[in-house]
Amino acid sequence: MIVIGGSTSRDLAKELAVKLDCKCILASSTRFPDGECYTRLEGESLHDDVVIVQNTYPDTSIIEMFLIQDAAKRMGAKSITLVIPYFGYARQDRIFKPGEPESAKVMAKHLGMICNRVITIDIHKETVLKNFKCPAKDLKASGAIAEYFADKGIDVVLAPDFGAADRAKDIGERMKLPYDHLEKVRLSGTEVKIAPARMDCNGKNVLIVDDIIATGGTILAATTQLKAAGATSVSVVCTHGVFTGDAIRRLTGNQIDSLLCCNTLESEVSNISVAGTVADELRKGKKKGLFGKN
Ligand code: R5P
Repeated sequence: MIVIGGSTSRDLAKELAVKLDCKCILASSTRFPDGECYTRLEGESLHDDVVIVQNTYPDTSIIEMFLIQDAAKRMGAKSITLVIPYFGYARQDRIFKPGEPESAKVMAKHLGMICNRVITIDIHKETVLKNFKCPAKDLKASGAIAEYFADKGIDVVLAPDFGAADRAKDIGERMKLPYDHLEKVRLSGTEVKIAPARMDCNGKNVLIVDDIIATGGTILAATTQLKAAGATSVSVVCTHGVFTGDAIRRLTGNQIDSLLCCNTLESEVSNISVAGTVADELRKGKKKGLFGKN
């Protein structure tokens, strides 16, 4: 097996290759003066099963993903598995207003044109995977998150909204802690309203878990409610730290006691690694003979 790291996911690709004890090639990706992407894979040939690790965020990385797949195929890859740690556009999985595109579907249809298999991590809506023409599977970061927080003195696990309720359940059950979700109403792209928690959080160390933090509006509103209800501490963790603008500063400079995310997106707080979870899945796939089918 050979792991190829695209420009969004170099550290994760390197870590994955160490875990799988295989070669890692980092795509040399630059921009032409007009902004178009140039990429190149070092070496003469790739006669092996190839795993490409690259996000579909930001938009420019989508083009790089197409180009790396084509280069790998031309260099003789026996099979191509795309590991998409953060699948951008998954929140636009249906038509909300007439005239809109089905963005997530468009992405899946086009990204899956060359590859043999796709792996995502905590994709916002799993139904999006049905749009890939090859087998596609979503892995969960809950195990890595629960393991990280096991000895951090957490009393309660809460999701900031109903959409993340299953995540809180999964992590709460793994940590053998009570869990629940808050009720959120989105007022605009940056503003949300969160109702007081049903669970008594007075004197508790609370862990808020979400899939994505973008502006941080959801997490700030949830934290304000929990601190007002007497929570001793509020730790926040998400899988994908998108952190638009100065979201990290706004969040860490507020009432939040700790902020962490997984390394599906690279940032200064991406301290929880999903490499082990992805490596386990790739090893299983190899055993089941899922690679090498072109
Ligand atoms: C929403 O459904 C997602 O799970 C996140 O809660 C949301 O994307 C977070 O966005 P923001 O940080 O901008 O509130």
